Amino acid sequence: MSHALEAIHVSKTYRDGAAGVVALADVSCAILPGEFVALIGPSGGGKSTLLNLFGAMDAPDSGDVRIQGTSTVGLKDGPLTRLRRTQVGFVFQFFNLLPTLTAVENVELPLLLQGERPKQARERATAVLAEVGLDDRLTHKPSQLSGGQMQRVAIARAIVHRPAVLLADEPTGNLDTKAGEQIIALLAGLNAGGQTVTMATHSPDAAAAAHRVLRIRDGRVDVV
Ligand SMILES: Nc1ncnc2c1ncn2[C@@H]1O[C@H](COP(=O)(O)OP(=O)(O)OP(=O)(O)O)[C@@H](O)[C@H]1O
Ligand SMILES: [Mg+2]
Repeated sequence: MSHALEAIHVSKTYRDGAAGVVALADVSCAILPGEFVALIGPSGGGKSTLLNLFGAMDAPDSGDVRIQGTSTVGLKDGPLTRLRRTQVGFVFQFFNLLPTLTAVENVELPLLLQGERPKQARERATAVLAEVGLDDRLTHKPSQLSGGQMQRVAIARAIVHRPAVLLADEPTGNLDTKAGEQIIALLAGLNAGGQTVTMATHSPDAAAAAHRVLRIRDGRVDVV
């Protein structure tokens, strides 16, 4: 079976003044299609760095990152952006919704950027918002939504283009316990429907919902 995501001997150092900060040191790991994997480990260990590489938002110094079997090393900006826009959906701790747009406008935006026709984009965005339980909040702006609802909109935006992999960086990190549980239940439900999910988290409860846990510490991965 081919991998959804693959890191092969990946190293990444951030230049930080004269000194370099080693974020990942020769990391190799893979995520299979249909898996729900949690990345755990201490702050500064490298979880976000690995997720950003898996999301083609950054490039490794050495090694290779493959997304749905496609190597990202040496890809030019155009193909890299296309790969990111078509194969990956990303959910952030602080939601990163556009504040002036309504829920449905936030969700349809990735489709419009891909050249989808407005009517089709609106229909698809409306359907996905219904899927995450927000069919009654389509025209609300982010400031009119709870944190849990904002994260649902963000998840809808991340899956609206049917990406191969959904990446989430501490998706419950800014939510209370109950809203966090609902977001994890939503991610687990999407995974049960076939969506591959990789999530960084500090929450043991969130990690327990995953099928597999990778611990990242000092830029290295150990399987738990
Ligand atoms: N843009 C950057 N510039 C310089 N150093 C960075 C940058 N981003 C991350 N780092 C450093 O790289 C290391 C790994 O950071 P990373 O954000 O991947 O950790 P993390 O596991 O996600 O931590 P947390 O649990 O706090 O989110 C840390 O030492 C961090 O300070
Ligand atoms: Mg992080």
